[in-house]
Amino acid sequence: MSSFIINGGKHLVGEKTVTGAKNGILPLLAATYLCDGKVTIHNCPELTDVSTSIGILKHLGCKCSREKSVLTVDSLGSDGFIIPERLMREMRSSIVFLGAVAAKCGKAVMSLPGGCELGPRPIDIHIDALKRLGADIEFTNGQIICNMPEPTGDCDIHLNFPSVGATENIILAASKGKGTTVVHNAAREPEIKDLAGMLNSAGADIKGAGTSTVLIKGVNKLHGTEHTVMPDRIVAASYLFAVAMCKGKITLNNIIPEHIVPFTSCLYDCGCEVKLGESSVFLKSGGTLKNFDSITTQPFPGFPTDAGPALVAAASVFKGTGVFVENIFDSRFRYIGELSRLGANIRTVGRTAVITGVKRLHGAQVTAHDLRGGAALVSASMAADGQTEINNIEFIDRGYEHIEDMFSSLGADIKRC
Ligand code: EPZ
Repeated sequence: MSSFIINGGKHLVGEKTVTGAKNGILPLLAATYLCDGKVTIHNCPELTDVSTSIGILKHLGCKCSREKSVLTVDSLGSDGFIIPERLMREMRSSIVFLGAVAAKCGKAVMSLPGGCELGPRPIDIHIDALKRLGADIEFTNGQIICNMPEPTGDCDIHLNFPSVGATENIILAASKGKGTTVVHNAAREPEIKDLAGMLNSAGADIKGAGTSTVLIKGVNKLHGTEHTVMPDRIVAASYLFAVAMCKGKITLNNIIPEHIVPFTSCLYDCGCEVKLGESSVFLKSGGTLKNFDSITTQPFPGFPTDAGPALVAAASVFKGTGVFVENIFDSRFRYIGELSRLGANIRTVGRTAVITGVKRLHGAQVTAHDLRGGAALVSASMAADGQTEINNIEFIDRGYEHIEDMFSSLGADIKRC
């Protein structure tokens, strides 16, 4: 296990370009398996979750090659349908391969997925939806055994919660085959629109992605295509909240304004200067920032759960008291105990955190327990007086491309050891 050593107290100043979205690229990689031809993906971030997905594609028989941020996947002729446990356990989003593999091969065998511990993460919505599409699914010894031999007929699926992964799995499973599938109460996250955009450019017929009703007409064949991954709105949030709490200024390029408005409006209310351009944002932070009143995480277009830790870390040095409610996952507060080691004053009751800003945080030894919580510890350590050591940073590498370079180039003192 590696760690970061951070000497805090430096202001962050500079200009950065946001990398491709982790939560965008992962379903796109599953989608490449459905395409009979070469798919070229631009702006592909260098993340361990991406390497795991590439590992799965290679295991299934695909040819994958990478030249910097351009990834090429050729799935023509590949027919693997079994994904080994060691790859499935690496990340939760490996479950999106279920829809893609079953649609391509008529069957899929894989173990239950792993991923960051954010409380129980059932897959019942995925399974119920795939069954509605005609799949026969059994669980044996921790394995999912799925048979979906016949093309589906017309089908309406109503999700009892707008699950991001389940919406993606349905789109993947229904894109190839016969019949029209309508998903009601679909997740509206922009990563879903990105997935549908890529599949449509490969010959799929998907309408309404990004809204709560998605209509998928199955087609016989998907061909090769070229696609640029959407910018990572959560990485953008991490930059913005880090600069706000460390003081300084940043211009972020490659953002989509409507994706980051939940963060910029919050930071504006707290006292930051914010200017949104067509594809960039400028943020300046100085003086005393005041805490937000109350923020609750919601499915898109609400405040995203993945940006919660970055917000809570920043709020720990904003003046006054802010109330943060985590509404999506049961247990996403493990990082808060670590923030307290750095001197933060945060009380939690269930899914609610009450943050009372302190004047200064101080260095300490802390541990990352999950991806976003780990990244929040990086920002808090950069704002703290003195030295911090963060352990278990492998979690952070799952979703941030060289986070130490990302912040060093803005003036932070952060080293990996
Ligand atoms: C995606 O996870 C993201 N991951 C998560 O990002 C993100 O936090 C989450 O959406 C919510 O926005 C990827 O896109 C790879 P969900 P996903 O299905 O698809 C419950 C990060 O840090 N649920 O929308 O797994 C579930 O337990 C990660 O980058 C069921 O009950 O999220 C949770 O409480 C972490 N049954 C809620 O729904 C199901 O079958 C939202 O889950 C599925 C989900």
